[in-house]
Order: sequence, then C-alpha cells, then structure tokens
Amino acid sequence: MKSYLSTILLVCFLNLSFAGEGMWIPLLLKSLNEAEMQQMGMKLSAEDIYSINKGSLKDAIVHFGGFCTSEIISSEGLLLTNHHCGYGQIQSHSSLENNLLKNGFWAKNKKEELANPGLTATLIDQIIDVSEKILAGVTEEMTLKERQSLVDQNIAALKSGYNLADYQDLVVRPFYHGNQYFAFITTTYRDIRLVGTPPESIGKFGADTDNWVWPRHTGDFALFRIYAGPDNMPADYSENNIPYKPKHHLPISLDGVEEGDFTLVFGFPGRTQEYLPAAAVEQIVEVSNPAKIAIRETALGIIDKYMRADEETRIKYASKFARVANYWKKWIGESKGIKRTKGIEKKKAFEKEFQSALSADSPYKNLLSEFSALYKEQEPLAYVRDYYSEVAGRNIELMRLISISNRLVSNYENNGEESYNNYKSRVIPWLENFYKDYDARIDQEVFQALVTMYIEDVGTEYFPKQINEIDAESFYKNTALSSQEKMMSLLSEPAESAVAKLKEDPAFMFGKAWRELYTEKVGNPINNISYQLDSLQRIYMKALMETFPDRRFYPDANSTMRITYGKVDGYNPVDAVRYTPITYLDGVIEKYQPGDYEFDVSDKLLELYEKKDYGQYTDKTGKVPVCFIGTNHTTGGNSGSPAIDAYGNLIGLNFDRAWEGTMSDYNYDASICRNIMVDARYILFVVDKLAGATHLIEEMDLVRPKQK
Ligand code: ARG
Ligand code: GLU
Repeated sequence: MKSYLSTILLVCFLNLSFAGEGMWIPLLLKSLNEAEMQQMGMKLSAEDIYSINKGSLKDAIVHFGGFCTSEIISSEGLLLTNHHCGYGQIQSHSSLENNLLKNGFWAKNKKEELANPGLTATLIDQIIDVSEKILAGVTEEMTLKERQSLVDQNIAALKSGYNLADYQDLVVRPFYHGNQYFAFITTTYRDIRLVGTPPESIGKFGADTDNWVWPRHTGDFALFRIYAGPDNMPADYSENNIPYKPKHHLPISLDGVEEGDFTLVFGFPGRTQEYLPAAAVEQIVEVSNPAKIAIRETALGIIDKYMRADEETRIKYASKFARVANYWKKWIGESKGIKRTKGIEKKKAFEKEFQSALSADSPYKNLLSEFSALYKEQEPLAYVRDYYSEVAGRNIELMRLISISNRLVSNYENNGEESYNNYKSRVIPWLENFYKDYDARIDQEVFQALVTMYIEDVGTEYFPKQINEIDAESFYKNTALSSQEKMMSLLSEPAESAVAKLKEDPAFMFGKAWRELYTEKVGNPINNISYQLDSLQRIYMKALMETFPDRRFYPDANSTMRITYGKVDGYNPVDAVRYTPITYLDGVIEKYQPGDYEFDVSDKLLELYEKKDYGQYTDKTGKVPVCFIGTNHTTGGNSGSPAIDAYGNLIGLNFDRAWEGTMSDYNYDASICRNIMVDARYILFVVDKLAGATHLIEEMDLVRPKQK
C-alpha cells in the first residue's frame, strides 16, 4: 500500500500527463513543447510564437516598466496592460478636480494621450543560449566565490563582443539555478503615454474583498501607447514622436474560448521556487508565513480602523493598504493550498524516490541531509529575518524615513556635499509625495503594536537595549522625521548642520542601532547560510536532471520572457463545490452594492445592462463574459500578460490567480491552480459601449476565428 501510494505521488510530481505546469523558455519551445501544444489544440507552430527571422507573437509582448507585462494590440503601438499595473501613472494624472481613478479617462485623439516620465516598455529582440560561454572553465572543484567570479568575467567578455545601440541591452540570467545561462537582447522604449482607463468601479471592481478570489468580476485593464522617434526607434519624450510601428500586434478574437479550450499566456513571470526541498517548504508553511501573516494582520487592523473612521484617511491609505493586504491574503491561501494538496508529503515522497534512485557512489548521496541540516540551522534566524523585514522593512513607515536619512548622512560623510545634494534633490519630491499620504498617528500606533510583537516573539536580544521599554508617543513627538514641517525645515539647512541634526535625532539613532544589531546577529550569518543553500540548490537541480533524464524540467521564473499553456477549466475550492470557469456581466450586477467603495457600479453600466446594449461583445448565450480561469501556470509579473487562443489571437488579459492555488509558486497542482483573466470581450465592451472610444476599436483587429 505504502509503495503504491508513493508511486502515485511520484507520478503526480513527475507530471507525466501534462496539465498546465511549467513556465517555458520561448527559444526551446520547438524541442520541448510544440508537439504537446498542438496535441492540445494549438494551430500555431513554435516559429509563429518565437522567431528571429520573421514577425512572431513575441514581438507583441512587452515588459511594462520592468514589473508587469503588456501587449501590443494595434499597428500603431497601442499597449494593453492591467489597471493595477498602470495604477501609479493613473494616480499621478489624478487630482480632486480631475480624478482619473474615479471617473476613468479616454483620450479623444493622440494629442490628448498623457506622457509618463520614467515609464518604459521593453521588447525582446533575441534570446540566446550562452551556457557554454558563461560556464567555460567552471569546475565542480571551485569554491563558490571562484565560480561566481569566473562567471562574472565570462559575462563581461560576452557583453563586450556585442555592438549594441544605446537603447539596447544584453541581459544574462542564470537558469535552472545556475546550471544554464541565457542572454536576452532587449530594446527599451521610453515615451509611453496613457490612452485610456476605465473608472475604478470597473478596473478595480471588488477591490480587496475580491482580490485573489474566484468568481471574479474585475475589468482590470488600461491602455497605453508606445511612441518612437521618426526612425521608429526609442527616443526621449517629444511632441514630434510618432506611434511605434510593431513587427507584430495581436488580433483580438470576438469568439473567445469555452471550457476545455487551449490557452497560452505569454509574459514575464517574476519568481517561483518549484524545486525547493520539503524542508524549505515546511519552513515557509510552519515558520515564515505564520509570522508574516500575523504582523500584517496587526498592521492592517490598525490602518483599517482609521480608514473606516475618516474618508480622507481612506483615500490616503487606500493604495498602501492594498499593497500590504495583497500578499497577506496570498500567504494565507498559499499555506492552506500546500496543506490541502499535501504539498510537503508529496515532496517528501519524491525525495525518497530520488534518494533510492541514486547509485551507492553517487556524489549526490548526502544532498538532502545537507539541505535539512542547513534549513534547521537557518530556521531560528529566518524567523527573526522575517520579523525584522516585515516590521522594520515594511510596515513601520518611519523606518523608511530613517533609511533615507541614513543615506543622506552616509552620502555626506563618505562622498561629500555634492553627493549629499544630488541625493537630497531626488529625495525631496519623494518626501513630499510620501508625507501627502502619511499620518503619524497611524504610524505611531502601528509602531507600538509591531515593536511589542517583535520583542515578545523574537526577544529583546534582537532589539537595541536602550529602547527596550519603548514609549512610542514621546518617540514620535521628539523626532523630526515624522513631521513634514520639521523634516523639510531641517533639510533646508546647510548640509553640515542638517547632517549633524539628523545624527542626533532619536528616531535616526534608534533605527541605526536596530539595523546594526540585526546585521551582526542575523543578517550576516543568514547570508552565509543562504549562500550555501543557493549552491546546494544548484547541485540539487543538476542532480534531478541527471537522475530523471526522461522528465521535462522547466526553469524557475526569474522575470524573463516565458510561455505557459493550459486550458480553460473550473475547479473544486472545497469538497462538493464546483466553480465553473466563466463569469458574466450578470454577476457584476449581483455583487452591486450602491455607495460601497468596492462594489459600486456606474449608472452608465447599469443602463447598458438594463437595455442589454451589448453590441458584438456577447458569447453564444447572448451574455457578456467578464472573466475566465485556466490551468496556465502564472505568478506575479504575469499581470497584464495576454491570454492567447489556439490561433494566436488575444482572448483575455491575465491579472490574478485563484486564492486556493497560490501555492503554485512552490508546488503547482493542476487540481486547484488557476490563473484569472479578463475576457477580451469585456474590455472591448467597456471601451466601445461604456467609454464610447470607438476610434480605438477601429484601430484594433477584431477577428472571428471560430466562424472561418
Ligand atoms: N492579486 C493581484 C496581484 O497580485 C492583484 C493586486 C492588485 N489588486 C488589489 N486589490 N490589491 O498582483
Ligand atoms: N496580480 C499579480 C501581478 O501583479 C498576478 C497575480 C499572480 O501573482 O499570479 O503580477
């Protein structure tokens, strides 16, 4: 019975029948995935998806600002991404009189499109397997330091062999934990303008209550445009710039997809860790996640109380609250999902099989026990690290002011007045922005609560002694940092006296002492262990690939271009409940709560719904589809990624995952891991019927592949 069970578990882990797992490198699609994709219904070839010889899908896929994905959907560089990816830009164009967040925005013509200084759009020109060049001369006998310095030298040598334009870059990244290397030649555009956004009542419908939730009804999209110089190449913002002419843009399907249909998601997933040993996942579920969840819960509870009491505070803290709540909620789902799918047991069973597959003289014999020993040694330190990074690094806002002050002081002391002034001129606008949304009363209460938790849970030995009995009230009263007025007046003084005052500030001294203590007792030793763990992880990855040569391995996400594919599919969130994979406009109306800040609906949308004025944007049932889910393996960074049908048309826009399956970052499980996409027809419906921006619809290619 036992070995029967472990065989089943092994088969699950080895994923012999494909179900959606994997984030694949476009360059390797032909050899690893094409046949399977076609068997699943795809009508394209690998060359249609990634090619350097002709325009292919990859030429429409754009890294948006380096943190999200976007895609080109017209011959004039029209760019589609998520509302939550463009949120910062939309917010920066908003004021009380002209609130783009609340009312939405639609440029009536290209002249009205809004510039966004600092925003970039990066295209991938070419992907090259450079493993041999980068690993030339590297041996297993080398120490970690020797290995890294040779790799760095090889990367520098490789780069110097390329003649790149100033808007190009060559980025070399480790794959399979440093067992392979790929290079990416990129072109970055830097005049990216806002074309249109729905109001938050659509773009953020359901807000935090519905975040990570299926069934979902959010129209999480916004439109931008890439502008280029007269030669179609990147240029700084200029009125004379022209819309970028892409090598390829995605047509948009009005036929959509149904349950069981093939889907492909193309984008820039940020980070996954699928090959961690059981010991590591155990630490995440037992130690890290509970600590981080508890800290954020405390902070969010305090902020929520103030936000509910006062509308102005609600607006000030909305975006910060959303950011903290986002991962708080994700971690809860992640831990639940690992338990429910027996993720740790599966990894343990797999490790047993791995161990017994090794020959008696295998160099990998002790790998897993070395892992366990290191994770065990790391565990108490990891607990303090998680506490410190959440409390000091994330949730007490004063700490951010302290680290800025610290940088001002060290710039002055180490590099002189000019460097101090340079940094100061950059930091002043940042500070103005910061204080606009800062409430020292709230921060003080968060400080008191979190520092108390920290001292109780990790102990006084990791806290600066002199402030053991911290009195938050007098502390916040006596520092200049927590007051915009005091801080700005301090910074208006000559450098020398400003620096002297900062160094005497009680908050500054406290933050410095805390950081130094942490670095000595936790930061340095844990870095040392992490270094050894990274190296073990590389060897483990190599061992897995050698031990199971018939298995297809995909590299962990690392913010490089990837393809994932699967099918439209529902799931069972709990026993006896089945979620179907498509939501409709009717569901928006079902969730509608007049006046509620998360679930309000505009009059215009209600009117269109009453009149059933849906245009061509319905499915076969005559209803407007809003969102759908699939088995595509995605993660953070895939926001804004196109969902593409079997023919290469856009059918949706990725923006989230279903809560029950967020553990896919460590342990994808096809039974409950689902990505959430807005249906392209809902996007078109909003642009056309709600916004009346028919000129944009005309700019796009709408197609009906199923009626050909
Ligand atoms: N959960 C999605 C992601 O991880 C969306 C986050 C933005 N939306 C929100 N309500 N906070 O990024
Ligand atoms: N919302 C995420 C993002 O901003 C995507 C959701 C996920 O983590 O899969 O990238």
